[in-house]
Amino acid sequence: MATELDTLRTDALARIKGADTDRALEELRIAYLGRNGQITKRLKSIKTLPKDERPAAGASINAVRNAIEAALEEQNEALLRSARSSNLTEAIDVTLPGRQRHGGGHHPVNQTITRIESIFVAAGYRIAVGPEIEDDYHNFEALNIPANHPARAMHDTFYLTDGSLLRTHTSPVQVRVMQTMPPPIRIICPGRVYRKDLDRTHTPMFHQVEGLVIDCGISFADLKGTVLGFLNEYFEREVEVRFRPSYFPFTEPSAEVDIMGAKGWTEIMGCGMVHPNVLSECGIDTEIYSGFAFGFGADRMTMLKYGINDLRMFFENDIRFLQQLA
Ligand code: DAH
Repeated sequence: MATELDTLRTDALARIKGADTDRALEELRIAYLGRNGQITKRLKSIKTLPKDERPAAGASINAVRNAIEAALEEQNEALLRSARSSNLTEAIDVTLPGRQRHGGGHHPVNQTITRIESIFVAAGYRIAVGPEIEDDYHNFEALNIPANHPARAMHDTFYLTDGSLLRTHTSPVQVRVMQTMPPPIRIICPGRVYRKDLDRTHTPMFHQVEGLVIDCGISFADLKGTVLGFLNEYFEREVEVRFRPSYFPFTEPSAEVDIMGAKGWTEIMGCGMVHPNVLSECGIDTEIYSGFAFGFGADRMTMLKYGINDLRMFFENDIRFLQQLA
């Protein structure tokens, strides 16, 4: 009996020392000290022994039980210690790369729009907005572009199933403002516009800024002075500018504005004196008032200012590109 108990003890202590998880250790505890554990069974069987042998048997089994209990406790602590120390080395691994915080930034096109707004607001203009889902009347008809007018073909319009459309330019905001606000009017209208187009310099959505001034005695000279002043301010230099006669249905006379850059003349905006048909349609007395309007692409303005040659970069959201201009 003594040798059998000795073997049990040696065996148990070795297995406990080898337990490398909490779970393995708990299984050993159950195997020896659980309700049907080897020690428990032996203790229960004491009562089958002759009376005079019981105390000695009890004492030796209890000694083994104590040894097992102590070994379990010790191994439990050893496991805890090693878990703690491996956590510790992880927490202070100085070789790990640092975690960087990325601050947000304004999109380059939004920065441009904000700057343009502040230039015009400083000159006494107000900012007007209109819906991106427009109707034929505001986008075309009221701007002197009746059905079948050839100018419609230039607009590559997205039509919605209910007959409304995604505005192809910000000019409809002119109409909405003139129809609700008496002159004098000095506004700019920044916003998104949509056309079925996609290449290096065209995306299906882009941004325009429209300008409109209506007052007594407004002439082409006012338009020219405004455009020149704005461009110098925006590009932060004395820009060389050229007004080239052009055609827009909603202005007469009309012009396109070019600026001189590294690669020669570049077209940057359309403008003109608001067509009398548009003024009358919007309830403005052409005997008293006249005005000018202009419109340009904010994306294009941003490209020119920063020397970006692919418009699609603005909408691919490559963080490296955006951060350069943030
Ligand atoms: N709406 C024109 C376009 O999208 C731009 C434009 C040209 C606006 C002349 C104007 C203007 O107000 O006078 O191409």
